[in-house]
Amino acid sequence: MCGITGIVTRNSDNIGELLVRCSSKLTYRGYDSVGVAAVRDGIVDLRKDVGTIEDVDRLLGLSKMKGDRGIAQLRWATYGAPNKINAQPHFGCEEVFFGAHNGNIHNYVEYRRQLIETGHTIRSENDGELCVHAVDKYYEQTGDMLEAVRLSTHDLKGAFAFAVGRSDKEEIYAVKMGSTLVAGIAENATIVSSDLPSILPLTNRILYLADGEMLSLTHDEVKVFRIEDGKQLERKPEISKIDARAAEKGGFPHFMLKEINEQPKVVQDLMGVLEGQENEKWFSLFEDASRHYLVACGSSYNASIVGTYYFNRLAGLPIIHALGGQFEPMYGNTMDSDSLSILVSQSGETKDILNVLNMVYENDYGKTLGIVNVIGSTLMFKANSYVPMTCGYEISVPATKTYYSQAVIFAYLSAKLGERNGHLDPSEAASLINRLRTDLPRLTQTTIDRTGILAKNLAKTLTNVKDLYCLGYGFTDGVAKEGALKIKEICYNHCEGMYSSEFKHGPLSIVTDKYPVIFVTTTEDSWMVINHINEVKARSGRTIIVGEMEDTLLPYVANKDDYLAVPKSDILLNPILDVIPLQLLSYFLSVDIGINPDLPRNLSKTLTVD
Ligand code: F6R
Repeated sequence: MCGITGIVTRNSDNIGELLVRCSSKLTYRGYDSVGVAAVRDGIVDLRKDVGTIEDVDRLLGLSKMKGDRGIAQLRWATYGAPNKINAQPHFGCEEVFFGAHNGNIHNYVEYRRQLIETGHTIRSENDGELCVHAVDKYYEQTGDMLEAVRLSTHDLKGAFAFAVGRSDKEEIYAVKMGSTLVAGIAENATIVSSDLPSILPLTNRILYLADGEMLSLTHDEVKVFRIEDGKQLERKPEISKIDARAAEKGGFPHFMLKEINEQPKVVQDLMGVLEGQENEKWFSLFEDASRHYLVACGSSYNASIVGTYYFNRLAGLPIIHALGGQFEPMYGNTMDSDSLSILVSQSGETKDILNVLNMVYENDYGKTLGIVNVIGSTLMFKANSYVPMTCGYEISVPATKTYYSQAVIFAYLSAKLGERNGHLDPSEAASLINRLRTDLPRLTQTTIDRTGILAKNLAKTLTNVKDLYCLGYGFTDGVAKEGALKIKEICYNHCEGMYSSEFKHGPLSIVTDKYPVIFVTTTEDSWMVINHINEVKARSGRTIIVGEMEDTLLPYVANKDDYLAVPKSDILLNPILDVIPLQLLSYFLSVDIGINPDLPRNLSKTLTVD
């Protein structure tokens, strides 16, 4: 949610171009509105409006702005409607201070009132504006920019990061208080940003920051300070090995299609890391705990449902799974110091997940294991140990390859744990791990190739459908929910994902002539799913099948494109492969409807708010 980028450069000709180029890499964090503030000869030029960065650049000439320092912000609206006034950056009382934030200021209502009562001119309904006024207020008292920035954090409550500048100061300042922030040092320029993709076009010399730290940037230096006492900290840049081209579409029309197509490579890289790493720590965390909780949101939650089936089947391990926001009220009182919370998050910044992480530590509720994609994220740093998803950047807002990676991680961890605790015969564990390593990359590629064509054809027949179901049974429970989430998210259709045996307990009444219901199945469960298919067929519904080609299922589809057949594998690989046709179906449907699947309306990839 929201992306800020601040740059200080020696060359004052191209600050707009730099800010647009770098901050456009944060589009996945927000695309409701965009703004740039740049300082030239002591005057702040602030331009902002509603729309994507391309739209607003075209409208206001952002990339032509001149100056030697500036701040850009891409907004995902929370406080205040997505309009021009609420767009960021904001000015302070005069057009002297300028700044933008990412995150939420929880004491927004009281603090806004206080500022107004003490004479501040607040123009918007956006909480980011309060960060600039807080600095303005303390500068008035101290006349010292660094101290004003530091003291502003005493007033602002919440999880946030912000960047701020003043027309007569050559530095940009930034604060990290619970939201992501990284900095980079380039030749003749420095940069601070909400995430690495916007830094890499300028430099791979990266400074990672912790919460409670702040920065000052000049064109040749980044200084890090501890907010608590203002003490300067030693911080050496690290060289990032991530290739900046990973944030390009690489010839695909959308990041989503690119990321779906990266899945064969994801599993290859992932298995190399899982088998090659010192992973004893992961297993001891499981084995030392008497209770195991699996917590995630959205697609990561759907993958965790699949994970729960793996842990049960392969390791005989009872795992309680819950949504991030649901976890404490549902299971908080069942926890103790012997618990293990497995927290799954692509971004490693999802607020609902970090709330659980903090709750565990505050109450001494045992240990945490993160399953996380973004290296350098809060979850990665704060969890007792973490399993990396090794997907590289996932830029498209809908999760695809990270869901897939999570499912593979669950299969792997369960097989290893089962082998260690005697639930699974060592030869079976070894065979599954071997299949994950050697067969899955090829099967994944075949699935993409084979079901891509079918899904494209099928999508054309669904463009007028506004309402459908996607049902799974056993291992495909989470897969169906994930397919439904994708269709909702990028096609704006109502598509409910649910357990197929539950459909007859109410929802079946929705079925009329040709009403579409997608059934996702493994070969082991298809005998049961056929019962559920028959219940829909008997009411003249249209049944669409995702799973291996089976003679017993064939009579239930009206035409060949209604059967998204994955290649032959087995019950343990089915839940990993079955999601791919659903990703492709949602992608093609979205494009056919005329939506950009990478940037669905109202959403943001990283949800650092409650
Ligand atoms: C759906 C999607 C979201 C995320 C959810 C959790 O395609 O991307 O539902 O899965 O916001 O995000 P992470 O995994 O970053 O915690």
